[in-house]
Amino acid sequence: MQRTKLVAGNWKMNLLQSTGSALVEAFLQKVELRQDVDVVVCPPYTLLGRLREELRRSHIHLGAQDVFWAEEGAFTGRVSPKMLADLGVSHCIVGHSETRGRFGKLETAENTLGFFAETEETIALKIRALFFHSIEPILCVGETLAERQAGQTEAIIAKQLEGALSGFDAAELFFFVVAYEPVWAIGTGETCATEEAERICEFIRDWFRTKFGDPDLPDHIRILYGGSVKSVNAKELFSQPNIDGGLVGGASLDANEFAKIVASA
Ligand code: 13P
Repeated sequence: MQRTKLVAGNWKMNLLQSTGSALVEAFLQKVELRQDVDVVVCPPYTLLGRLREELRRSHIHLGAQDVFWAEEGAFTGRVSPKMLADLGVSHCIVGHSETRGRFGKLETAENTLGFFAETEETIALKIRALFFHSIEPILCVGETLAERQAGQTEAIIAKQLEGALSGFDAAELFFFVVAYEPVWAIGTGETCATEEAERICEFIRDWFRTKFGDPDLPDHIRILYGGSVKSVNAKELFSQPNIDGGLVGGASLDANEFAKIVASA
C-alpha cells in the first residue's frame, strides 16, 4: 500500500522568536507543498505559539519535541499534552535519544543524565497521554555506536519498541509513526548507509507484524529515518520501500536544505 511520506524537522534547542519566524518564512517561500507529503516542524516549546500563527495559512503541521504525561498539576517545568493540544500541536516526538539522555556528542556523567533521562515506561505513558489528545507521537528508537559494535542493534530496537508499545492494541497503532535514529549518526554528519537504514526500517515493520499479528497493521505504520539527513542523501533514503520519510535535525534549520529534503520525498 502507498503510505503518505512524512518529513519532520526537529529544531532541538535552537532559534529565538526572530530567527525562528525568519526561518519559517523563508521555508514557506521555497517549499513546494504537495498532498502526498506531510511536513511537520518541531520548534522548542518557546516558539510553538508564534509558529502556530505563522503556519496557520500553510499545510505544515506543528510538532513538539517532548511532553509530560499528566494532564496538569504540581510538575514544575513540565508541559502537558493538554497544553500542546491547546496550541494546535498535532505531532510530538517521544523517546528521542537526547531525551533518553543518550547524547552523541555531549560528554556528561551517567549519573547526571539519569536525573532527566526518560525510560521505556515514561515513553509508554507519554504515548498514551498523546493519544488521549489526538496528538500523533513520533517514537524514536536507535542504538549507540557501542551497541552496534557489540552486535546488539536489533535487540536494542526490539526492546525499545516492546517497552514503549506492548500495552497497546493493534487498533490504536494504525498510522503510528516510528523514527529509526541511530545515535551515532545524529549530528555527526555520518549517515547510516542506505541499505542498512532500509534493513533496520524493515526490521521495525516486521516487529509490528510479529508482535501484533494483524496483517494490515505493518503496512500502515510510517517509519522514518533520522541521523544526518541532508538534501544530498534524502532522495536515496526516501526511495527505499520501508523508509517513509525523515526526521531531520541540523538540516531543518536551513530553509533551502529543508525545502530540498521535502522535495526529495
Ligand atoms: P541531525 O539531522 O542533526 O543528525 O539530527 C537528527 C535528529 O536527531 C532528529 O531528531
